[in-house]
Amino acid sequence: MSDASVAPLHGAALREGLLESGFDLRGEIRVPPGEGSKSMARLEAVLEEMLARGADRRTTVIALGGGVVGDLAGFAAAVALRGLPFVQVPTTLLAQVDSSVGGKTGVNLSAGKNLAGAFHQPRIVLADTDTLLTLPPRELRAGWAEVAKHGLLQGPMWEWCEANGRAAMAGDAEALRHAVLESCRLKAGVVAADEREEAPEGGRAC
Ligand SMILES: NC(=O)c1ccc[n+]([C@@H]2O[C@H](COP(=O)([O-])OP(=O)(O)OC[C@H]3O[C@@H](n4cnc5c(N)ncnc54)[C@H](O)[C@@H]3O)[C@@H](O)[C@H]2O)c1
Repeated sequence: MSDASVAPLHGAALREGLLESGFDLRGEIRVPPGEGSKSMARLEAVLEEMLARGADRRTTVIALGGGVVGDLAGFAAAVALRGLPFVQVPTTLLAQVDSSVGGKTGVNLSAGKNLAGAFHQPRIVLADTDTLLTLPPRELRAGWAEVAKHGLLQGPMWEWCEANGRAAMAGDAEALRHAVLESCRLKAGVVAADEREEAPEGGRAC
């Protein structure tokens, strides 16, 4: 599953790679870009389309896109046929450093954001920093705010952010790779300590 902005940019590379590796593709589901796609109505449409395309219990759902696609596809995978495996292929910096790791999936309700969802861990998170080259600068900066947040939680990372922020925002491959790797390491540690946000104080929910 992808969105209508990301699929034309990065869908073909993923599709070709999977076909070359011998995977049987059941087709691609595209949703409109943006937060509006994280809705119960869109979830239902995605589930119906998955089943119409022949999804069965051996199907793996792949999320190619930003946090919106990851959250929606992950939730669809959690509930389709009582749970299918899924893989995150995040294409925004925010999704690579934060939302693709940790297994929180879901959609918004009129009562609030992310109020319907499931903890459903991806089998694989495949973050290719080359996909960030097509990301609008505003979205890159939004992701950098998450990297800086991780920096505030960990002294050496903050110093690295101060020294390398400009390079990362200019698209420097090494700086982006480091930001993604270190952020994922940090987030994975937080998730492993409190996967379902059950810690009475602090922990993952904060
Ligand atoms: N599950 C979690 O733990 C978690 C954590 C943080 C945020 N989130 C959720 O993530 C969502 C926000 O994610 P986001 O900031 O990635 O937004 P997004 O998914 O809406 O993507 C932002 C925009 O960038 C476009 N885009 C994505 N990748 C691109 C690329 N490589 N090149 C060009 N355009 C590209 C998208 O089409 C979209 O228009 C929110 O719904 C938020 O609730 C979830």
